[in-house]
Amino acid sequence: STATLAACTSSSSGTGGMPSRTFGPPTPVSPSPGQKVLEKTLTARPVSLDLGGRTVATWAYDGALPGPLVRATAGDFLRLTLDNQLPADTTIHWHGIRLPNAADGVPGLTQDPVKTGGKFVYEFTAPDPGTYFFHPHVGVQLDRGLYAPMIIDDPTDPGGYDAEWILVLDDWIDGTGTTPDEVFKKLIADGGPANGGGMGGMGGMDHGSMGGMSMGSGPWGDAGDVTYPLFLINGKPPTDPDVLTAKPGQKVRLRVINAASDTIFTVALGGHRLSITHSDGHAVEPTEVGAFYIGMGERYDAIVTLGDGAFPLVARPFGKTSGGQAMAVVRTGDGATPRADADPGELAGQVLIGSQLRPTEAAKLPGKEPDTTVDLALQGSMKPYQWGMNGAKYGENEPLTVKAGQRLRINATNMTMMTHPLHLHGHTFALPSGLRKDTVLMAPMQSFAIDLDADNAGDWMIHCHNIYHAEAGMMIALEYR
Ligand code: C2O
Ligand code: CU
Repeated sequence: STATLAACTSSSSGTGGMPSRTFGPPTPVSPSPGQKVLEKTLTARPVSLDLGGRTVATWAYDGALPGPLVRATAGDFLRLTLDNQLPADTTIHWHGIRLPNAADGVPGLTQDPVKTGGKFVYEFTAPDPGTYFFHPHVGVQLDRGLYAPMIIDDPTDPGGYDAEWILVLDDWIDGTGTTPDEVFKKLIADGGPANGGGMGGMGGMDHGSMGGMSMGSGPWGDAGDVTYPLFLINGKPPTDPDVLTAKPGQKVRLRVINAASDTIFTVALGGHRLSITHSDGHAVEPTEVGAFYIGMGERYDAIVTLGDGAFPLVARPFGKTSGGQAMAVVRTGDGATPRADADPGELAGQVLIGSQLRPTEAAKLPGKEPDTTVDLALQGSMKPYQWGMNGAKYGENEPLTVKAGQRLRINATNMTMMTHPLHLHGHTFALPSGLRKDTVLMAPMQSFAIDLDADNAGDWMIHCHNIYHAEAGMMIALEYR
C-alpha cells in the first residue's frame, strides 16, 4: 500500500546513515562591534530524575528536564558551548534558527560529533524572533530528555500581555528498564510498533478510550510507533503537574513547544479560547480556537485571557490509547486541582490544523515563480520498519540541490499511511498560503508545495521530526551547488 524504498533493505546503521566527512574544530566567529553577546555552557550529562514519584535514569542538559532556557533578543550574538559528559557522542541542533551552517549541529554534515568529555562552541546571530528549542542530532538521543526551550525576543514586540508561560511537551519512555536506543533497535528488529518492554507499572494512568479518541480518527491516520507510559509538560506528569499561577482577567502568552519524539498532541486549556498568534515563530493572523494540533518540532504561541479558578491545560497524545495525557494546571483562584484525566470539552470540538493559519502580511513569504522545482517523496512502512525519502534511506538517497539566490519549490508528497512532521534546517519555508514554517504536519497521502529562498549556503537536513523515523533514514540533505 505504500511506495517501495528500493535501497531500504539493509539494516540500519544506527547513525541515520551518517555520511563520513570530517570537519575538525569549529572556526571561531566574532560578534560585530556593539553586538550584544550571550554566553552559556550547556552540559549534557546522565541524571536521575524524579517524575512525580517515579525515578528515572536518563540524560539531560544541566541535569534538568527540560534543560535550561536559552533566551536572547533578535540580533544578539550567541556563544553556546556544549560540554559533553555523556557516555556517547552528541551535538546540539538549534531547531528552527536560521544560522550559519557550521553551527547547525548535524554530525557528518556540518561538524564532527562531539566525543565524551569534549566541547563544541556554537556561535551565531539569531536573526528572527520566535519560540524555538534545541536538541541533539544524534540517534534518538532527543527522546532521552535532551531538549530545552530557546526564545528569541522581538525588540519591537508591543507586548500586550501580563505574563508568559513556556510549555514544553514530551512523550516519556521509562528510562530505567528501557532506553530509546533499545526501543529503536526493537522497532528495526520486529519491523513494527514496539513497547520496548519494562514500560508498564503506571498504575491508574491508563485511561482506555480518552475522550472517545481512537487510533486513526481525525485527519492524521495512524498514530506513532512507540508506546509511551507517560506524557509530560515541563518535565512533569499530570499526577504532579506544573502549576502556573496568574490573576483572573490577566492575559498570558503561551509558548507551546512539542519536544516529543513520536507524539502529535491536541492542546486545550479547559474553559478558555486561545488566540493563536505565531506558528514556528512567525506571526499569523490571530485565530481563535478551542484546541489545536501540534506536531513534533512545531511551536505555537497563543494569547489567552484567564478566567477565575483552576483549569487543566491538557496536551492529549493524538491517536494513542495508553499512557494517559500531559497536563499542567493554570490557577488564578480557588477550585479543586484538575484530575490527571481531566477532559476539557474544547478537545471534543474543532481542533485547528496549524497549516491552515493565515500569515500576517509582514510575515508572508512574497509570492514568486520558483527558479527550481524538485520533488520530495516521504516513503516507508511500519512492517518492515523502513522510512526514507526519494526512494532510499538517508545516506543512500540523492541530496536535493539548489543554487544560492534561487527560489526553490519542493513538491512534497507523503506517500505513507502515517502523518509525518516535515522539518527543514537553516531556512523557513512557505506553504502556498504564504504561511512560513520550519516544521509542518503532512497527513497520509497529502501533497503540497513548499517554497524557500536559498539565502543560507551550506548543507542542510530535511527530515521527518519523528525521531525514530529520522533515525531509520527518513532524512535527505539539501545542498547548495
Ligand atoms: Cu529538531 Cu533536524 O531537527
Ligand atoms: Cu515520520
